[in-house]
Amino acid sequence: NHKVIFDTDPGVDDAIALYFALAHPDIELLGITTTFGNVSVQQASANALYLTRLAGYRRPIAQGVQFPQLKTPGKHPEFVHGNDGLGNLHGRSEVGGQIEAESAAEFIVKMARQFPGEISLVGVGPMGNLALALKLEPRLPRLLKQVVVMAGTIDEPGNVSPVAEANVWNDPHAADQIFTAGCDLTMVGLDLTHQALCTPEVQRRIEEIGTPLAVIVSGLMDFFRKTYQDNQDFVDPPVHDPCTVAYLIDPSVVQTRRCPLDVELHGELTLGMTVADLRG
Ligand code: RIB
Ligand code: CA
Repeated sequence: NHKVIFDTDPGVDDAIALYFALAHPDIELLGITTTFGNVSVQQASANALYLTRLAGYRRPIAQGVQFPQLKTPGKHPEFVHGNDGLGNLHGRSEVGGQIEAESAAEFIVKMARQFPGEISLVGVGPMGNLALALKLEPRLPRLLKQVVVMAGTIDEPGNVSPVAEANVWNDPHAADQIFTAGCDLTMVGLDLTHQALCTPEVQRRIEEIGTPLAVIVSGLMDFFRKTYQDNQDFVDPPVHDPCTVAYLIDPSVVQTRRCPLDVELHGELTLGMTVADLRG
């Protein structure tokens, strides 16, 4: 099975990915690390606590970076994920619990040293925590088994700019450091995730599960459907983050290409663009 640390900015699609990882028998979720992105890092931690406890799980949650490394922080995309990051969930019950004392970067390094070569780091937000962990422990690329990130785009247009995807756009310097660190890294970009649509048929199957959690997840999809129809001309919403978990469980569900990968850090128009060298 897969030992996993889940780095996230929950986030509607992050929530689906988290439940996927928590529920799948092949995944042992060692912990959750939070970052700013869809919401503030404080809200991300509160959401991670809420989502895990709501589903009856307890996992270590270590809070991470509040800001991008260098660029001026932007507004959180409340128009996509809601003010609370979870589709403006009504009647959010108190779930109790508290997050870890240590930072996300310290948690990642501690676990990587404890389980050398065994941990898959699944990142579905801006990559500041991964970059800080790399600074703390330069051996991280060898201590981690692999890194799978929902990030970037190659052929598909960007979503926060004509060429940039949100997780890279939010912290392009961190992304560049991770892409060039020598990790066994798989980038699951918009090229794939824009095919992972939550159709009415998929949503109906979720509702048929019939549990209170299924009702909440279906509500999240309703919210996501509306924001993607309003903002990006999608009929059905692309559910980005769970694609990383699907790839981890069964890499055969996607086709991948091996290539050098870099991030544009200096362009006015192209900041945050992921540049794959496909010349073979
Ligand atoms: O571009 C999509 C990514 O940005 C997803 O991870 C979504 O949750 C947002 O963080
Ligand atoms: Ca995310």
